[in-house]
Amino acid sequence: MTKLTLEEKQELIRMALKARESAYVPYSDFMVGAALRAEDGRVFTGCNVENAAFTPTSCAERTALFKAVSEGVTKFTDIAVVGSRRGEINQQITSPCGVCRQALFEFGGPELNVIMAKTPDDFMERSMDELLPFGFGPSNVAGNQAVEDEKED
Ligand code: THU
Repeated sequence: MTKLTLEEKQELIRMALKARESAYVPYSDFMVGAALRAEDGRVFTGCNVENAAFTPTSCAERTALFKAVSEGVTKFTDIAVVGSRRGEINQQITSPCGVCRQALFEFGGPELNVIMAKTPDDFMERSMDELLPFGFGPSNVAGNQAVEDEKED
């Protein structure tokens, strides 16, 4: 697996920043954007989408993930995440919540590179293995032939 160049990482961050502009956040006013890069180089973006009933809220990372998977893309190498309150320039790192870590682990595995950015010039990176050590994934579901078949496709 080839690692992204600095320029490619910065482009991914710019795409996450652009996606953040669509955040639907009337309840928290906290706008998040994500850009998920597939193994084949395609990028799927997402924003957080809140809901009056709160529970149905989707984080930006899962919005991007589900867009990709619903388009038949299931293997990923990198994700860029940006988040900050409306009207603020990114002053803080936003790291994926626990639910998103689990959702991403399903498809990105422990190797997924997570880029947490303030700006294209100010970011940190961690592997999913660092964010979700001993993650529970498809291979842990013993005897699940469907999972094995999926891998062979
Ligand atoms: N949020 C994300 O979209 N991604 C994260 O990783 C952290 C939290 C959203 C959920 C909610 O809409 C808002 O940020 C405040 O929690």
